[in-house]
Amino acid sequence: MAKTLADVVVTEGAGALAEEAAERLVRIAGEATAARGRFTVALAGGATPRGLYSRLAAEPRRSEVDWGRTWVFLGDERCVPPTDRESNYRMAHDTLLAHVPIPPGQVFRIRGEDGDAARSAADYETQLRALFDPELVRLDLVLLGMGLDGHTASLFPGSAALEERQRLAVAVDVRAAAVSSRITLTPVVLNAARHVLFLVAGAEKARPLADVLKNPASSLPAARIRPKDGSLTWIIDRAAAGRLSEGA
Ligand code: 6PG
Repeated sequence: MAKTLADVVVTEGAGALAEEAAERLVRIAGEATAARGRFTVALAGGATPRGLYSRLAAEPRRSEVDWGRTWVFLGDERCVPPTDRESNYRMAHDTLLAHVPIPPGQVFRIRGEDGDAARSAADYETQLRALFDPELVRLDLVLLGMGLDGHTASLFPGSAALEERQRLAVAVDVRAAAVSSRITLTPVVLNAARHVLFLVAGAEKARPLADVLKNPASSLPAARIRPKDGSLTWIIDRAAAGRLSEGA
């Protein structure tokens, strides 16, 4: 097996992947709350984390997170209203946030609907800096997914956002995506997190996943996420792991 598998947890399927992620999130939340009095997490969009969110919304996991001490952010957002089917906030709300006792003031969604994505990104950055040490916005946990082209959050191949060194959130225009105008956190904040958990499922992800995990020279965006002073874990299913074993 490749050395990188040390940070990779291969699960049997969607249910096991969600359960593994839930267990880890609960543990990280507990440690953060004990150490610093609060738990800060950036949620991923896409389909894969839905199972995790639904699990967290139901017992026994629901009672295992201190929601009164939890602050929720979004890793990226599509420029649509929060009620739109494409909205990452809407997905997180419907599967998780609507079902747990989190104070509304502790949910920080990215405003995708205002018509000026650069402004919304700058506002989000201002909010983040106000809630953390402005010089170091260090989330306890960042959840991420990965697309077929290796994108993560809304950091797509070739995007200038991947080279960002200062800004925490930027507007991006993604020609290939259904909603092309998006706002994303940058590697500046993603790589400052204490823990990063990628959730990846499906045979169609096996090829990009092998590139990210086995090719030290990978140019895929997901390969750019390597927390400077934190843990990086990939929770994947067996199908996505299809090309990870030696020689595959
Ligand atoms: C988004 C996401 C994005 C997602 C990947 C994987 O807004 O689309 O944040 O980065 O995580 O595209 O999505 P799936 O889990 O649906 O494959």
